[in-house]
Amino acid sequence: MWGSSALFASAQSAQELIDSVLNPPPGSEHYSSYSSAIYYNHTLYNQTPIASTNYDRLEASAKLLLNPAAYNYAAGGGGLEKTVVANREAFDHWRIVPRVMRDVLPARNLSTTLFGRTYPAPIVMAPVGVQTLFHPDGERATSKVFGELGLPYTLSTASSTGFADVAASNGLGNPRWYQLYWPSDDDLTRSYLQTALDNEYEVLVVTLDTWDLGWRTRDLDQGFFPFILGVGVQIGLEDPVAHQKLGFNPLAPNATQEQKQTAALYHTVVTSRGISPVWRNITKLREVWGERPIVLKGIQSVEDAKLAVQYGVQGIILSNHGGRQVDGAIGSLDALPAIVEAVKGKITIGFDGGIRSGSDIFKAIALGADFIQVGRPILWGLAHEGEKGVRHVIKSLLAEFEITVGLAGYAALKDVQVGALVKNTWTNGGT
Ligand SMILES: Cc1cc2nc3c(=O)[nH]c(=O)nc-3n(C[C@H](O)[C@H](O)[C@H](O)COP(=O)(O)O)c2cc1C
Repeated sequence: MWGSSALFASAQSAQELIDSVLNPPPGSEHYSSYSSAIYYNHTLYNQTPIASTNYDRLEASAKLLLNPAAYNYAAGGGGLEKTVVANREAFDHWRIVPRVMRDVLPARNLSTTLFGRTYPAPIVMAPVGVQTLFHPDGERATSKVFGELGLPYTLSTASSTGFADVAASNGLGNPRWYQLYWPSDDDLTRSYLQTALDNEYEVLVVTLDTWDLGWRTRDLDQGFFPFILGVGVQIGLEDPVAHQKLGFNPLAPNATQEQKQTAALYHTVVTSRGISPVWRNITKLREVWGERPIVLKGIQSVEDAKLAVQYGVQGIILSNHGGRQVDGAIGSLDALPAIVEAVKGKITIGFDGGIRSGSDIFKAIALGADFIQVGRPILWGLAHEGEKGVRHVIKSLLAEFEITVGLAGYAALKDVQVGALVKNTWTNGGT
């Protein structure tokens, strides 16, 4: 509760003290002061945050704002959605053991270096496609907020906004990563990668678990597939090699409706019903991407993590696509300890699947993840007036993470290690 810069202020007028909390001098602000800002703004100015600070209530209000098909598209998973549940349950398999009486200041050092670049916190925007389903500003809003915070923004191949527009909203020099759905046509792959490089996307994330679409029962029951409607295909519509292959530019002023639909379907078919990527083809990516970082997303097995090291990629992301692909699969956090034991230090380890709070981030980092990705919470934020809601959600996660690190007794990210946790063996979820 005292995690604000007011702690350091000498006795001043009430207004000066309020200003020191709400407008701290540049450089002295830190993530956890977001809670002070909420309390002060509400108490003194009757301003409340745009949405709840609690994930379940955030999702519930987003649901009311969204068209049901869009809500279900994001909330749903594969089959019986057992993997969606397993992702959450896995966090309950571990509990934090707080330490006290340590030198911990309100501003914790959460910074980390990934692929040669230093970030203020180990948090990355998960690649999420079709964001205009959740707000008309879609990727423009999310990439803008991540840019403001200096955190990496990952653009999906299923984006509803193209490379250049997202680069513009993200901001010059800000960290941008590109996530590839590996097309079945090498010419298109090369072209997507080249356009990513031309727009200064620095890290290539290759998603390996979605070369065919999972059995997504909520969407199947409504026959809902946004790509056929032309949402989430902008990268394909703008691609110069796709134009050559199609024999027309679907974005030209004289393009017909039928041509636009053909181009949308073409992008969808080559990227979502592709060929399954195989290890030996990583060299094809290197032909365009060179020695820049390549990160494989969708790893859950120790053997695959070791193969990733063997094939010389720079990183892996433990992910089961938010439970949207293989139903009945292992909870993503349950896969982390063994993979960390096998490859930590040899390769950068990212994690996603079920991150809903600062405490979840703490557990994933303590178990050995070098960074985590946030997916669904950002979409629910986006549903609340676009960039405003996104900013609220990510600032809340950062604040709760910083508060958790401090209250658990740690001053810096590097000190958050597995010793901060115990296995939760007293519920039926214990492993
Ligand atoms: C609506 C939606 C769209 C997604 N689109 C993509 C995508 O285009 N590419 C990708 O690699 N992963 C995609 N994902 C998976 C996320 O990158 C991430 O793995 C997942 O959201 C993590 O689970 P969580 O959001 O439950 O924490 C998507 C997830 C959702 C919910």
